[in-house]
Amino acid sequence: TFDEVPGRYKVRDLSLATAGRHQIRLAEHEMPGLMALRAEYGPSQPLAGARIAGSIHMTVQTAVLIETLTALGAEVRWASCNIFSTQDEAAAAVVVGAGTPEAPTGVPVFAWKGESLEEYWECTEQILVWPGDVRPNMILDDGGDATLLVHKGAEFERLGVVPTDGQPGDRGYSEEYNLILGVLRRSLEGDPQRWTRIAAEIQGVTEETTTGVHRLYQLHEAGELLFPAINVNDSVTKSKFDNKYGIRHSLPDGINRATDVLMGGKLAFVAGYGDVGKGAAEAFRGQGARVVVSEVDPICALQAAMDGYQVVRLEDVVGQADFFITTTGNRDVITAEHMQAMKNKAVVGNIGHFDNEIDMAGLAAIPGIVRTEIKPQVHEWVFPDGRSIIVLSEGRLLNLGNATGHPSFVMSSSFTNQVIAQIELFTKREEYPVGVYRLPKVLDEKVARLHLDALGARLTVLDKTQAEYLGVDAAGPFKPEHYRY
Ligand code: NAI
Repeated sequence: TFDEVPGRYKVRDLSLATAGRHQIRLAEHEMPGLMALRAEYGPSQPLAGARIAGSIHMTVQTAVLIETLTALGAEVRWASCNIFSTQDEAAAAVVVGAGTPEAPTGVPVFAWKGESLEEYWECTEQILVWPGDVRPNMILDDGGDATLLVHKGAEFERLGVVPTDGQPGDRGYSEEYNLILGVLRRSLEGDPQRWTRIAAEIQGVTEETTTGVHRLYQLHEAGELLFPAINVNDSVTKSKFDNKYGIRHSLPDGINRATDVLMGGKLAFVAGYGDVGKGAAEAFRGQGARVVVSEVDPICALQAAMDGYQVVRLEDVVGQADFFITTTGNRDVITAEHMQAMKNKAVVGNIGHFDNEIDMAGLAAIPGIVRTEIKPQVHEWVFPDGRSIIVLSEGRLLNLGNATGHPSFVMSSSFTNQVIAQIELFTKREEYPVGVYRLPKVLDEKVARLHLDALGARLTVLDKTQAEYLGVDAAGPFKPEHYRY
């Protein structure tokens, strides 16, 4: 069952709004960057006139982001960027806003925990299709699905073709892609210029994560990007904090809530030693696990080795590890053959953005395999020989599927970048021709500054001679662009 007004909102249960509001209130206390932006920009309303289509995990922290955007003048519609990541109480509180469940006055949200993939793409469509003759003029994306829908729709309209479903064996075929084509087919039949008009009105997109940023650079290199983009992920105060310290918190949270299996003394395998992998490995180590890491990049492999982790291939440890976690943003990292070779009751999960890191289809296709639901988002897969493995969130990002994602403080840092990026693109359109940009370093430093007081950190101030000696302004920026932190 849902609480739904078609075109206005669709969430699980509006009566959860009070519970959601309590959590949002506590999160606000832990999100000093966003609250500082409300104080700084509330009076001048820089986002007045912005109509933002937002697609990020519909969590409590995202609720604080949404209400910061509206406090700065924006109109917003929201969907989650993952079928399992919505916190239904947060979605309810955002819809209800200052109203009541009977008469909600908040922001339209189309998201609930446990969407089907078909529903997921319908929700994504809902944030882009506004009532009346009004269209969004900004996208705030996480993983690039909203951006993808607009680009694909506009492409089919330009070619003047109605897409037909792909068949197994076709290049690029996937069941999910057919669902996207289904959304586009319906909309093209209703309005053959819908996506072209939306694309023309979009002033820009701000993208949250590594995988979405990767897609944006690919689109731009192919000459197909339709509007400018800000890569929020590669603000230092995003990827070096959220991806690393956020994962350090939310990976064990997800594993604990899902399985309650002790990590101490066990062998944990982490695929990938980028920002997310570094946080994941540190989390396991913090719990007393023995940690091994795999990498394809010799620099990251050497980093892992210097940090004290043995660098292995999955094949080396597949029969011994107790936990297998993928953090690569790549595909086919854990195959069905790997899973068949794992030891009894091994825990398998992915924390990278998409579910193609673990071959779930291959697992399901093993003859005689039996899948038992232990609880939602936790499944035991029993092989014909009686051994089994535990797979979290059906191979989707487990920190949001099995727990509630990153904690508020680290998301404040990420989302402060998001809000600043939205203001940049919306108010300085002419300074950003179509392309992919990062925020200027001075703004990155500002985000960090906004989070120091809350931690009791006292920053040392350069005096004039020191600043001259280093050749920097005493107010920053402090590092050259090529500095790596
Ligand atoms: P990154 O690029 O810093 O790290 C990924 C690493 O995986 C790279 O060092 C790469 O060399 C390595 N790699 C690629 N293929 C591999 C393979 N076959 N075997 C072993 N290693 C391999 O990216 P980052 O920022 O760490 O993000 C990773 C993924 O996590 C992305 O999909 C990103 O969108 C997602 N993400 C998820 C979050 C969450 O809350 N669950 C938060 C932040 C990012």
